[in-house]
Amino acid sequence: MMKDLGEKTVLVTGAASGIGAALARSFLTAGCKVALADIDEARLRRVTSEFEHARLAARAVRLDVASEASWALALRDVEASFGPIDILCNNAGIGSERQPFGALSAEAWRRVFDINVHGVFNGISAVLPGMLLRGSDAHIVNTASILGHFARPGVGEYVAAKYAVLGLSETLRMELAGTPVGVSVLCPGLVATRIGLPPGEDENPAPVPPTQPQPGARPLGIDASGIGDAVVTAVREGRFYIFTHPEYAALIDRRFGEIGQALASSAPLGPAEDIAYLGQGFSRY
Ligand SMILES: NC(=O)c1ccc[n+]([C@@H]2O[C@H](COP(=O)([O-])OP(=O)(O)OC[C@H]3O[C@@H](n4cnc5c(N)ncnc54)[C@H](O)[C@@H]3O)[C@@H](O)[C@H]2O)c1
Repeated sequence: MMKDLGEKTVLVTGAASGIGAALARSFLTAGCKVALADIDEARLRRVTSEFEHARLAARAVRLDVASEASWALALRDVEASFGPIDILCNNAGIGSERQPFGALSAEAWRRVFDINVHGVFNGISAVLPGMLLRGSDAHIVNTASILGHFARPGVGEYVAAKYAVLGLSETLRMELAGTPVGVSVLCPGLVATRIGLPPGEDENPAPVPPTQPQPGARPLGIDASGIGDAVVTAVREGRFYIFTHPEYAALIDRRFGEIGQALASSAPLGPAEDIAYLGQGFSRY
């Protein structure tokens, strides 16, 4: 648990927009020094300069989360000005090509995994060894999605990538139990951000006159601003899962209901001698 966040150094990836910018704002408001990292340098400069004008300890750093070399350069820059990273938010991500399997391009599949999954792994490998070596309180927040808990058709590469982020976060939490490094996984539902919009389009689209919602159309989603504060609270309190709406319980229950039924009706194929072996991580927290 990190009760006192004052003066901590935070690195947020994907901080030039949406959820990342909200995370940066909330950690700055909590008194942290925040490195805003993003591949979109123009937008990054704009967002960071707003914080600098408010005399907050913000610093922009160019980072392509998919590149290990870019992580090395970014860390050198941040550590030289703000010191070692205490809180890492692996948040950068891209949306789906929105094609069903069969029409989905291999390039879209690879791109989503390069950024949404390998980007998170690269961040952990770059920052975690230093955190463990220093031995002071630290925290890693990975942005998954509610689509890491159940699937939706038409966005398969995104769903698969977010299940991966959830799985790696759950493993990381078990491995780091008993160390001073906490772990959280952020699982938002729809948030009104630039994700999926063409480059250059703004995250604050002009207000549209109210119309009848089209059945099956993508709703706009909630404002990102509340998510930053929810993450700051979760880091302070050492909470692992961070959700944005209790209503998703109905969909998660539906999935686990089917899994529960399938388990209950499965014929044992041999003695389950591996229960304690496979389940050993649960006793760690
Ligand atoms: N918006 C939603 O509805 C929603 C829901 C659940 C999860 N998420 C997740 O939240 C995270 C943030 O998304 P957002 O909705 O704020 O989107 P966004 O597009 O507004 O912001 C994402 C930021 O990531 C940056 N980025 C993209 N590729 C990068 C790379 N290779 N290296 C560094 N930065 C890169 C973009 O430039 C952008 O500034 C993503 O991981 C996304 O999957 C979003």
